[in-house]
Amino acid sequence: MNREDGFPQDFIWGCSTSCYQIEGAAKEDGKGISIWDTFAHTPDKVLSNHTGDIACDSYHRWKEDIALLRELNAGAYRFSVSWTRIQPEGKGAPNQKGLDYYSRLVDGLCEAGVEPWLELFHWDLPQALEEKGGWRNRDTAMRFEEYAGIMYDHIGDRVGHWTSMNEPWCAAFLGHLTGEHAPGLRDRRAANRAVHHLLLAHGLATRAFRRSGIKGEYGLVINPSKPRPATLRPEDAEASERASIERTSLWLDPIFGRSYPRVFMDIFGSDMPIEAGDMDIISEPLDFIGVNYYDEEAVRAAPCSTQNPYGFEFVPTYQKKTDMGWEIEPSGLRRILSYIANVWPCKKIYVTENGAAFPDKQDADGIVRDYDRIDYIKGHANACGDAIKQGVPLKGYFLWSLIDNFEWSFGYNRAFGIVAVDRNTLERRPKLSFYYYRDLIAGFGL
Ligand code: FCB
Repeated sequence: MNREDGFPQDFIWGCSTSCYQIEGAAKEDGKGISIWDTFAHTPDKVLSNHTGDIACDSYHRWKEDIALLRELNAGAYRFSVSWTRIQPEGKGAPNQKGLDYYSRLVDGLCEAGVEPWLELFHWDLPQALEEKGGWRNRDTAMRFEEYAGIMYDHIGDRVGHWTSMNEPWCAAFLGHLTGEHAPGLRDRRAANRAVHHLLLAHGLATRAFRRSGIKGEYGLVINPSKPRPATLRPEDAEASERASIERTSLWLDPIFGRSYPRVFMDIFGSDMPIEAGDMDIISEPLDFIGVNYYDEEAVRAAPCSTQNPYGFEFVPTYQKKTDMGWEIEPSGLRRILSYIANVWPCKKIYVTENGAAFPDKQDADGIVRDYDRIDYIKGHANACGDAIKQGVPLKGYFLWSLIDNFEWSFGYNRAFGIVAVDRNTLERRPKLSFYYYRDLIAGFGL
């Protein structure tokens, strides 16, 4: 049946999750320790000292998750592989039980008619590699290439969409500069080194994928941002450009063979451990770019200083905020997609994450009537339609997230799911937004 909302028939509607946030089974079947296991078990790093030890127990309940995807008639499921299930110490021979888990998951998805989108890295670096310097250490990029190769060999024949990693900006800067994420460092030079080694790892894994001969599309997922200027004054427009560098061009410029942005190199170039040939590896051509979008912000010009090297500051905005304090501005999604499509020659773009946390409440009949989340999804789906009309090669949309899960430093205190998970019984219970998304997927949501 044809859709009636004007979206192309082959537009992909999916859901996203990540392993540490949903799997649990933190020590089962030979899994090694990742930096997120360590971080979450360090007192006061995560709100309420929550950990991902149990999470949504998807390691055991993956069939329930697939049944939900099937009920939605989702076209695809983007999930991530836990590196330490495959290589407990981040190197060497693979752990068969870990491979079996993802193999079962992929087969189950295919049987349900849901296309598996496999992501190799969603921040849970093996602790053993962290002890050797983690992303500060060039060797971690080589280890990543080895791990990627194992996954290509074992399930390459069954997975048609691959991404190397999720939001390297977060891994580099939240992990090494602000300390909000694992490994919790506060060191600018460490963050800058991580930037280069993450990109090098991405490039090496992409090149290995091409060499493997596997048929499939390969991409990188970023969380770009270009805050809108507070006013039309030229200095604010320039501040908006500068404010986008570390979130956007720092990743897309090298990926598209343009090397690192000059402004960044002028300030931090001496930290960057670039070796001959690296930039060629990093710019191995990709099939698509994944864009994670949650909110937009607004900036104006401010004096440059060591504290504020790019010379901008955020200004207050009027929009309603989600439970994360993130402003709700669907047109910002259209703006960032158009910006990227205009500046970089992307063949295809997918929104690989979009969604919202709200303080859900269960009514007496057990139902979560999350109309705020429904509005959020509807607004952003419309923005995707607008982007397509503007000529953006947008080919799909993935909702974050299928189920409520471990929201990093907020633990289970923030809920993004369209399905609630009872923290005691781990039972899954669709919220009204789940039925909304089912309608949207069927073409009736707008
Ligand atoms: C993104 C992460 C994802 C999730 C959402 C809310 O930055 O990629 O894992 O936590 O934010």
